Formats: sequence, structure tokens, C-alpha cells
Amino acid sequence: MIQEYEPEATRRDAGDAESSRASRGWWDRNADEYQSEHGTFLGDDRFVWGPEGLDEAEARLLGPAESLRGADVLEIGAGAAQCSRWLAAQGARPVAMDLSHRQLQHALRIGGGFPLVEADAGALPFADGSFDLACAAYGAVPFVSDPVKVFREVRRVLRPGGRWVFSVTHPIRWAFPDEPGPEGLSVAASYFDRTPYVEQDERGRAVYVEHHRTIGDRVRDVVAGGFRLVDLVEPEWPAWNSQEWGGWSPLRGNLIPGTAIFVCVRD
Ligand SMILES: C[S@@+](CC[C@H](N)C(=O)[O-])C[C@H]1O[C@@H](n2cnc3c(N)ncnc32)[C@H](O)[C@@H]1O
Repeated sequence: MIQEYEPEATRRDAGDAESSRASRGWWDRNADEYQSEHGTFLGDDRFVWGPEGLDEAEARLLGPAESLRGADVLEIGAGAAQCSRWLAAQGARPVAMDLSHRQLQHALRIGGGFPLVEADAGALPFADGSFDLACAAYGAVPFVSDPVKVFREVRRVLRPGGRWVFSVTHPIRWAFPDEPGPEGLSVAASYFDRTPYVEQDERGRAVYVEHHRTIGDRVRDVVAGGFRLVDLVEPEWPAWNSQEWGGWSPLRGNLIPGTAIFVCVRD
């Protein structure tokens, strides 16, 4: 009988290459389960910024409806490309890219007729100035050790005036246990501890990595990447949403923010 090793959760350093390798493997192995668990909430062609359920149709963080028509949009860490499908329905020309082959197979299964590109957000395979907009709903950014490298790549492929809008776990969440119930309401770690969360196998190889940055770090990273920050949105938990998603729940969502959305402009 083959014994399945339960990965060990720890906090330790994890560089660029190790983080990418872990993410590709984790998302390839877990894409089927992720899509069957969250696919209904995400909707095949909705643009949802995070577990609170804030919809781009309502939030308009990418710009007014008319600005999407004919716009070239890059979705980074697109998963099954739900957001790109919504963008295509608005008349935009999306390209959905992701590191995980299996996530992109789900994108292909649902369909959409726009290009799917398998690549790492740290090395975008596109010419300079190819896009009017770039977006990521929890795509790539929380999982990379060098977000400035990603932001510089995004800046390079955007045209002047282009927007870069991305959501991540709200940094304050790192001070609390990742639990949806009351046990997730007491501070258990330092908000200032940037040591990555790593799950590793029996040989100490990372199989899942998430990187923590404080709010101030994220602002500095955006600026270092060559962007101007024009808004920082902290969606409130809406009354209609009774659904838990991992450590995100109505209980916690009514007390502390769960998602931070950065709206940036490339001048
Ligand atoms: C939480 S999912 C978000 C996808 C989609 N927006 C959703 O809500 O389901 C994170 C995605 O980021 C991708 N990802 C992680 N690291 C990446 C990297 N370095 N480059 C590109 N994509 C990456 C993963 O493969 C995964 O599909």
C-alpha cells in the first residue's frame, strides 16, 4: 500500500523558483477539486473579485462599461478564466494566462473562444505595450515571492494609461488563524512577520506557498513596479452572501476585511 504523505505546514523562506514550482504542482493537482468546490460561486462567466462576491459588473474597478469595448485585456492567474469570459461578453478582447495546465484545461472545457496562455506571471510572453488593461482576481500575486518583478512585467506589456487591478488576501488576515469560525477571530501571529506560509513534503520540498506582504509593502511594491495607486478597495461582506470559502465567512467578514483590491495606473 502506498502511504500518502500529509504535507507539513510551516513558515519559512521560499524563493521565486521554489514558489513557482510549488504553485504549478499544487494547482495542477487541485484544479479539479477547486473548480468543483468553487465553480458555482464563481460562475462560468462572472467576474468576482473574491470570496465576498464583489462583482466587477457592480464595482467597475476596470473602468466604465464603454471603456471595455474593444479593449485588449490580460487576465493573470486566470484559473478557469471566468473573469475573461465576462470581459469577452462586454466586448473586450481578453487573453487568459495561468501557470497551471490543469486550470487552463478547465478554461478550455468551459470555452470562450479567446486565447489561453500557459506562462509564469514573472515572465510574460507578450510584446511591450500589448494590452490596455490587466487584471487578476487572486491570480498569481499572492503566490509569488517577488511581486515587484510581476508588476514590472505587467507595466511592460501595458500601454500608457493602462490599468492594473488585482485582488489578494487582505494582509490583516495573516495575523489571524485561517478559520471561518470564532477561532479565526483572535490574533495568533504578528502582522509584521513576512515569512511565507509553506506546506512541504517529507523531503522538505514546498508543495504549496503563499506570500505575506503588509499593506505598506503592497503600496511600495506597486510604486516600485512603476504604477500609481488610485484606489484600494476593501469589500464589505454583503448580507446576501451566506457562503463560507476556506477561512472567509460571514462571521469574520462582518468584522475584518478579507480581500484587498489594488487599482493601479501605468502613466
Ligand atoms: C485562487 S486562483 C485564482 C483564479 C481565478 N481568478 C479564480 O478566482 O478562481 C489562483 C491562480 O493563480 C495561478 N498562479 C499561481 N502562481 C502563478 C504564477 N506565478 N503565474 C501565473 N499564474 C499563477 C494558479 O495556477 C491559479 O490558477
